Amino acid sequence: MAKAAIMGYGTVGSGVYDIIKTNAEKLSRSSNGEEIELKYILDIRDFDNHPEKELFTKDFNDILSDGEVSVVAEVMGGLHPAYEFTKQLLEAGKSVVTSNKELVATYGEELLAIAREKNVNYFFEASVGGGIPVIRPIHQCLTANNIIRIAGILNGTTNYILNQMIKNGKTFDSALKDAQAKGFAERNPAADIEGHDACRKIAILASLASGKTIDYNDIETEGITSITLDDVKYAAAMDSAVKLIGYAYFNEDGTVYSIVSPMIIKNDSPLSGVDGVFNAILITGDCVGDVMFYGKGAGKLPTASAVVADIVDAVKHRVTSKKIFWEKQTDNVMAHKDSRKFSYFIRTADNAENIRKIFGKCEFVDNIADGESAFVSEPLTQSEADEKTAELRNVITKLRVMD
Ligand code: HSE
Repeated sequence: MAKAAIMGYGTVGSGVYDIIKTNAEKLSRSSNGEEIELKYILDIRDFDNHPEKELFTKDFNDILSDGEVSVVAEVMGGLHPAYEFTKQLLEAGKSVVTSNKELVATYGEELLAIAREKNVNYFFEASVGGGIPVIRPIHQCLTANNIIRIAGILNGTTNYILNQMIKNGKTFDSALKDAQAKGFAERNPAADIEGHDACRKIAILASLASGKTIDYNDIETEGITSITLDDVKYAAAMDSAVKLIGYAYFNEDGTVYSIVSPMIIKNDSPLSGVDGVFNAILITGDCVGDVMFYGKGAGKLPTASAVVADIVDAVKHRVTSKKIFWEKQTDNVMAHKDSRKFSYFIRTADNAENIRKIFGKCEFVDNIADGESAFVSEPLTQSEADEKTAELRNVITKLRVMD
């Protein structure tokens, strides 16, 4: 019998509880016959009407000091006290599994090192892509490859909002309210719509793929707040879609170019048809070529399914550390912002003659709104794109076209 605890009884925590209860037999088979018994649920709120109200505690020390508890699911979110709790649990020789991307992106290197030293595990499959298996595939199945590029739709809330705006004509605000009601959005949804959540997730994937800490603070991040329905219509007219993309390119010299930004995705990319709360992560390896991981990126049961799978894995590897980790960043591993070129889709009040004078060769798109021109540039560095765009009159939109 393996004894477990849950810290945080919100959307994901209650999903973890439900899965442990409803799929108990299946989980026991997966854990080599060992039953998983839930001993504590930590939450500061009262759950007096819960059918197992005796499991609830407000005291973290109940879990920390209980020698029987070998694995803890940290699904409380936020940095503090999640960081302090996780650190103490790992140091006490307990494995911790988490969906907390903010914590993994910020303190992953340190927490993974403690887990390694203590011969326990810190698993975080649910931190990226909700229910989609992607952390283990990068760590295990793709380990023979040098990863060349990762491009992902990593935030379910923004993908849901964009989709609701396009397909159901919803306003940004009402689509966001829907996403909150469905349990997709962060407590502060600015983390979703301003791209910070996607930024933390691409930082985790890039750290895992490169083996070095990629600090999310070094990743230029732009969200979807400036995207309008007209931008989306232009994209459709170009046989493309607008998606918020977390992007990392791994250069041969060991540096990593990474950015989070809304991009124009051509319909021939498997990412363009990924709609609603679904996420997808397209990974290019030097041996395997392109592989894509697709599924529900947010929500109670999809995310909890990845957390519970980590609990099972931790139970199965109770006395061995799986040694997932990345090294401390010593030199600056981030590539220069001009190390990659993209074509840009630009809308401006300027005329075609001026645009050609500034940008040279470019492809014009039939305009949807009056009094403007829309075009796609040749591939440019970020500095080139910024300098040329600054010469245009009244720029309405500037979006990278994903390569
Ligand atoms: N707010 C996140 C999203 C939850 O919308 O993707 C899953 O990490």
